[in-house]
Amino acid sequence: MSQHLDGIAPHGGHLINRIATSAEGQEFQEQADVLPRVRLDEKSFSDLELIAIGGFSPLTGFMEQKDYEPVVSDMRLANGLPWSIPITLSVSEEVAEPLKEGSWVRLDDPTGRFVGVLELTQKYRYNKAHEVVNVYRTDDEKHPGVKVVYNQGPINLGGPVWLLERDPHPLFPKYQIDPAKSRALFKDKGWKTIVGFQTRNPIHRAHEYIQKCALETVDGLFLHPLVGVTKDDDIPADVRMRCYEILLEHYYPKDRVIMAINPAAMRYAGPREAIFHALVRKNYGCTHFIVGRDHAGVGNYYGTYDAQYIFDEFEPGELGISPMKFEHAFYCKLSQGMATSKTSPSNPDQRVHLSGTKVREMLRAGQLPPPEFSRPEVAAELARAMRVPMESF
Ligand code: ADX
Repeated sequence: MSQHLDGIAPHGGHLINRIATSAEGQEFQEQADVLPRVRLDEKSFSDLELIAIGGFSPLTGFMEQKDYEPVVSDMRLANGLPWSIPITLSVSEEVAEPLKEGSWVRLDDPTGRFVGVLELTQKYRYNKAHEVVNVYRTDDEKHPGVKVVYNQGPINLGGPVWLLERDPHPLFPKYQIDPAKSRALFKDKGWKTIVGFQTRNPIHRAHEYIQKCALETVDGLFLHPLVGVTKDDDIPADVRMRCYEILLEHYYPKDRVIMAINPAAMRYAGPREAIFHALVRKNYGCTHFIVGRDHAGVGNYYGTYDAQYIFDEFEPGELGISPMKFEHAFYCKLSQGMATSKTSPSNPDQRVHLSGTKVREMLRAGQLPPPEFSRPEVAAELARAMRVPMESF
C-alpha cells in the first residue's frame, strides 16, 4: 500500500481537482449563453461532483471509449489501473447530434442551473447488453442498475470536465467532507489506518457490529453513507442520516469516528460496485474498507460473498486499499450478543436477522424492528419518519 505525504496515495497517485479556478469560472460564465447545453440527470450530476472533488481519481472527466471498453470487459482503465464501473455521460441521439468533438459543452444540473463544462473529446456508441452483462452480471431489466442503463441514451460523451463551484450540500452541509478535507482530518487526528464504511440502508446492529469489530484493529472509522440517487423504495437519505446521528450520539466513541456523505449514485452492481466503493474510499484517504454480506447487492442477483471474492481477482497491492471482509452478522440468542457463524455455535432458529426489504415491509405495515435487530433509539426515529404509530413500539 503506497503511502503519501498526506496518508495513503489516491488511486493513480494524485488527488484530482477539477473545480474551476475563479479565472476559469469567469471564462466559462462569459460563454454560458453561447455554449451548447446538456442537462445532467441526478446520477451524472453526482458523477460530475465526484470527478471534480477527486473522489473518482484518477478520472478527470467522463470516460472516452479507450477507458470505457477495458473497464467494462476487464475492470481496467486504458493505463491498466483497476476500475470496475463505467463513468459515462450517456445521452440521446438528439442531444448528441449537434455537439462537435473538440468543442466545449455547458453542463446544467437537473434543475437547469449551469454547473460545469465538458471539453467534448469523443462521442461514441456503446453496447448496452455487453455493458450490463459484464458490470451487473445480468441483463434482467428488473435489476435497478440494468434498468438505468437501458433507459439512458445510446451515445456517450467523453472528455475532461470542470465543476464551476463546489456548493454546500442542500441537506447535509456539515457532512460534506470532500477527499482533500477528509485526508487533512485524518492527518490532524494522527490516524494511520482508517476503515471506510459504505451504506445505503438505515443502520442496524449488524452494521454497528462489523464497524466496531473493524474499529478494534484500526485507528479510525470513516462512516460514509451514500446520499446520491437510490432506488425508489430505499429509505430516504435524510432519515438514514438522522439514524446515524442518533447512533453516534449514544453508542460510539466520539473521537474515533468521522461521518461524511458520499454523493454517489447507487448502482446495485454487487461485486463490481464493491471494488468501486473501495477505490472511492481510498481517494477519501481510507486504508481499509468493510465488505460484508451481499455488498451493494439487490434481490438475488449475487451470491452472499461474491463481493468479497472479486477482490481476489486483483494482485496484492494493486487496489491500494485492503478489504475487511465480514460474514453475515446476526443477533445470537444463545450467547445474547451479535455474532457470525465464525463466532457462534447457534443454529438458524437461535439467530435474529432481518433483510432490508423485510424491515421496509415491517415499517410500511406499522411494525417496528425488534431491539435485537435495531437499537431502540434508531427504531423510534424510523417509526417517526415512516409514521408508524408509537403504540406498536
Ligand atoms: S449496501 O448496498 O450499501 O452494501 P447496506 O447499507 O445494507 O447495503 O450495507 C452496508 C455494508 O454492511 C455492506 O458492506 C454490507 O455487506 C454490510 N452488511 C449489511 N448487513 C450485514 C450483515 N447482516 N452482516 C454482515 N454484513 C452486513
